[in-house]
Amino acid sequence: MLVKPRELFAKAFNMQYALGAFNTSNLELTQAIIWAAQKQRAPVIVQTSEGAIEYTGQKQIAAIISSLAGEANVPVVMHLDHGHSMAVVKNCIEAGYTSVMIDASTKPIDENIALTGEVVEYAHAHGVWVEAELGTILGAEGIKTLQGEAPSDELLTNPAQTKKFVEATGVDCLAVAVGTIHGAFSGREYIRFELVEEIAKQLPALPLVIHGASGLASEHLQRVAHTNVCKVNVDTELRLAFERAVKSYFGQEHDKCDPRKILGPARDAVQRVVEEKIRLFGSDGKAA
Ligand code: G3H
Ligand code: ZN
Repeated sequence: MLVKPRELFAKAFNMQYALGAFNTSNLELTQAIIWAAQKQRAPVIVQTSEGAIEYTGQKQIAAIISSLAGEANVPVVMHLDHGHSMAVVKNCIEAGYTSVMIDASTKPIDENIALTGEVVEYAHAHGVWVEAELGTILGAEGIKTLQGEAPSDELLTNPAQTKKFVEATGVDCLAVAVGTIHGAFSGREYIRFELVEEIAKQLPALPLVIHGASGLASEHLQRVAHTNVCKVNVDTELRLAFERAVKSYFGQEHDKCDPRKILGPARDAVQRVVEEKIRLFGSDGKAA
């Protein structure tokens, strides 16, 4: 069922596990995510970037997610990932999203506070949960696309700024830059746990969010799920699994021309990755 996220975050916060948030842009990815959640009896967040919305169409992607969520017997949140403007937030809320992210992290902090505050006011008036970002998460979606270089300290979230940011904006959860990178750079990205702890000290009751989880070691994912981090975003590893399966199909002899033979195994491969992440985050069995 499609749900609002507040209770899911409260339970994840109290029980110290993390909700998996997985990106989709089409039917097969959405099926893979929701079916994985069903199999693992896990609450799940299905999210779309602005690019995904542009590719599929706002109404169409919302219809795909809400239709599959409506049939699922686990809680599903429909979330906007890295929204950059009030306009896209409004469109998503109108389309039935139960959660939105406003990412003004590349702007000076006062502008970030101002735009995030406006979004919070609008979204809360519509009963919608809001995530914002403070600090810069590098990679494909970041301000600088340092491919796989460890983020330098000045780009990480400054714990001293977090309390003011949260109090000024009224945001429900906060994405923090603590060493991860958008994209899968195994061995070159990591979580700075001491920074997560410092931020949690400043914001003892606020759920935190980790972006760029692809490429992170399993031990880091398991460990971070036991902190105040309640949502972990995974995208690239799903794309890689999808692509590997498609490549393998074309690497073999086949005499039938059928898109289902291409997309079906790719969907299965993505589902396996989502199930594995859900188990690492400890959200399996938490759907009740
Ligand atoms: O917002 C989406 C994520 O942060 C995904 O990052 O592609 O490194 O898994 P990733
Ligand atoms: Zn992200």
